[in-house]
Amino acid sequence: MRIQTGVEGFDELVQGGILSERVYLLSGPPGSGKTTFGIQFLAQGAALGEVGLYVTLTESPQNIIDDMSNYALNVNTLIKMKKLLFADLGPRMEYGYMDDLHHVISPDYDVGHASVEGEAPSPAMVFKDIAAYVSEYNIKRLVIDSVSSIRFTTRDRTLEEKEISRFIRNLKRIGCTTILLSEMTDPNAYSTEQFATHGVFFLHNFLYDKTMTRALQIIKMRGTKHDCNMFSVEFTERGLKVTGRLD
Ligand SMILES: Nc1ncnc2c1ncn2[C@@H]1O[C@H](COP(=O)(O)OP(=O)(O)OP(=O)(O)O)[C@@H](O)[C@H]1O
Ligand SMILES: [Mg+2]
Repeated sequence: MRIQTGVEGFDELVQGGILSERVYLLSGPPGSGKTTFGIQFLAQGAALGEVGLYVTLTESPQNIIDDMSNYALNVNTLIKMKKLLFADLGPRMEYGYMDDLHHVISPDYDVGHASVEGEAPSPAMVFKDIAAYVSEYNIKRLVIDSVSSIRFTTRDRTLEEKEISRFIRNLKRIGCTTILLSEMTDPNAYSTEQFATHGVFFLHNFLYDKTMTRALQIIKMRGTKHDCNMFSVEFTERGLKVTGRLD
């Protein structure tokens, strides 16, 4: 089944939407719109009655909520309706704010053990917490911001790749449609998460002829006919919008 992403102009590029219960990777440089895309995707589902979970590993949920409240996506209403949930699984470095936010994030539910003080969480810990949320709240759409912040590093590179694949394989089985956000490194240096996910999308923000140009590219999407070229994107009051082929 194909589901709408909520990003205007995007679904038409992928035969009407992304396939449900699959795992996608959205990569891009700083400020390219990864978080915005992720929130649009969750807000779209929430508006259709599907509960969405935004997992943060670097930024506080409150900052993301504040920034995303600037868009006409009804973020605060969806949070109040408990259709949009936030979970902070990042390193515990700040004092007390989790307690202040507890009512906003996940009432009556005490997960968020993913990491110990100051240390990036391991994939197993992140997955365990997410799986608990998913079954407790019947979550259908999931965004993880970002996969680059999970501690996959071991001394052995092959083991690291196995860990990433294992994390993604487990996510494929929990019954939600997932978008993993990742900081873009080199688009030509293929990473394990690009191979392991069902689809890979890039957001670009580059200097062209003295002007910064925003673009989106569908690198891969299994089971779908799509154009691999760049499409121009812009930010509107409803978030990101794909406006057409970039020439
Ligand atoms: N109201 C707005 N109108 C237009 N553009 C905006 C608006 N608010 C934010 N932006 C743009 O959105 C960018 C931030 O988008 P977003 O947070 O989704 O990016 P990101 O890829 O998640 O960034 P990061 O890598 O830092 O997490 C800002 O740098 C700004 O250029
Ligand atoms: Mg972001």
